[in-house]
Amino acid sequence: MSAIRVRNLSKSFKRPIRTSGLRGAIQDLLHRRYEEKKAVDDLSFDIPQGEIVGYLGPNGAGKSTSIKMLVGILVPTSGDVTINGLVPYRNRAATARGIGVVFGQRSQLWWDIPVSETFQLMKYMYKIPDNRYKRNIELFADVLGIQEFMHVAVRQLSLGQRMRADLCAALLHNPSIVFLDEPTIGLDVVVKKKIREFLLEVNAEYKTTILLTTHDMQDVEKLCSRIILINNGTKAFDGPLERMKTEFGAGETLSVQVEGAVENWDGLRLLGVGDYRYDPESSTLTVRYDKRESNPAQLLSWIMGRASVVDFTVKPPEVEDIIRAMYTNPARPVLQEVL
Ligand SMILES: Nc1ncnc2c1ncn2[C@@H]1O[C@H](COP(=O)(O)OP(=O)(O)OP(=O)(O)O)[C@@H](O)[C@H]1O
Ligand SMILES: [Mg+2]
Repeated sequence: MSAIRVRNLSKSFKRPIRTSGLRGAIQDLLHRRYEEKKAVDDLSFDIPQGEIVGYLGPNGAGKSTSIKMLVGILVPTSGDVTINGLVPYRNRAATARGIGVVFGQRSQLWWDIPVSETFQLMKYMYKIPDNRYKRNIELFADVLGIQEFMHVAVRQLSLGQRMRADLCAALLHNPSIVFLDEPTIGLDVVVKKKIREFLLEVNAEYKTTILLTTHDMQDVEKLCSRIILINNGTKAFDGPLERMKTEFGAGETLSVQVEGAVENWDGLRLLGVGDYRYDPESSTLTVRYDKRESNPAQLLSWIMGRASVVDFTVKPPEVEDIIRAMYTNPARPVLQEVL
């Protein structure tokens, strides 16, 4: 049995059509008209127990809407979902016992009580046995570093602290499946790293299935072996991260700040570079290349032969770059629209 099974899942929302101007507003009041928006459209996939899946897609693709159906918050317009064999919106309580949910944009913690008491409440609600509770608190507190703010009221926490507390609370009852919708949004690199380590640890220790939505390529690289890409409510790609990268996004960006007279950079083409741009205002040369065809050291040494280099950075592709590349030119990944 798959941990998560999704078949032909769809969700439509009715949205009121607004006419502009005061007259329009009054007309709309008298005769409301609606248009239908298909947020999720005939989506199917299976996820076996223990897998960490990156659930990616551009803004408005339907990721959050589908997750809400998977966890029982929304009822599908059509299609089927089972989570550990249960239909979530029909068996909300039973489904909830087996899953953990974190929406990065919104906290599930009680605002006015300290973190430690929230955990106690979770223990009570989910009937977590003493020994397991203790063990989890120890393990989680250790990896996430939450001792320092254990007795602080949730509303006084920083975003990164709150996120760590949220994660801990969502996993205390050892759910076999965890849904994480942008758990690292707005966090600094140190906290992001802690959260990634935590998820890997939980996955290794308990074989927890994790469905992770993120716009951060580092999250994907560090955690996910499989990617499901959603676009316009449908599945656009489903496969290993490696395949996604080779098919769509081996593109990197090299930014070089140069000094002195700038000549023609067209020779970069001979080194396999797809696109480049020179910005005279910042004296920066930005080069987009495919890692399979060029390497940054070679490019840099070529540039150093023509100008004196003040500074440089190499940037891996962002999730958004890869997604964009999939819809522009699969034969020449990533290069077009970024420059
Ligand atoms: N309650 C709602 N009522 C009407 N339309 C909605 C509702 N919730 C979502 N939508 C629409 O459904 C589409 C999918 O939204 P959803 O939040 O699932 O996207 P997403 O993939 O999570 O995007 P993001 O990366 O921005 O979080 C969007 O066009 C959105 O405007
Ligand atoms: Mg979303």
